[in-house]
Amino acid sequence: MNIYLIGFMGTGKTSTGKVLSEMMNTRLLDTDELIVEQEKRSIPDIFREEGEAGFRNIEKGIFRKLSKDTSDYVISCGGGAPLSSENVSCMKKNGVVVRLLASPQTVYDRVKDDDGRPLLSSEDALSGIISLMKDRERAYREAADIAIDTDGRTPDEVAAEIVESLTKKG
Ligand code: S3P
Repeated sequence: MNIYLIGFMGTGKTSTGKVLSEMMNTRLLDTDELIVEQEKRSIPDIFREEGEAGFRNIEKGIFRKLSKDTSDYVISCGGGAPLSSENVSCMKKNGVVVRLLASPQTVYDRVKDDDGRPLLSSEDALSGIISLMKDRERAYREAADIAIDTDGRTPDEVAAEIVESLTKKG
């Protein structure tokens, strides 16, 4: 079984994924990294050259591959991946879906100095985060088997809670 980490940008999918894969002694994948490796371009370059729609198509291809090729990985997913029901079906085929939550202010504090996220590059980033989070809430909620709050917690604490929830879930 894979563990797919989903959630808004800045909820800690990458940092938690690293700790979780160590705790569980499994390998780690990151869908954004797989996209960059495959395309040999950065995420901002893909958005600039092909728009968000082009990026989403590439992302779908990655999820299709993951649904066939992999098991027993921790997979940190790009923040927009669960907006596609096709991607969510791919995740459910061979994995459990864990959603990480954070408040808009926490997300803002975590991402404000990072210029690698084209969707958060507007002047008023906090308002952008609030509105995009609201638009996506339902998709995240419906995709998740488990949801974990990350506000004020370290990746170690979040990863430990994921392990505990998965153990309880059986
Ligand atoms: C996106 C999130 C990013 C990356 C791309 C689009 C999104 O990943 O896939 O910039 O739509 O939320 P992270 O969630 O890892 O930042």
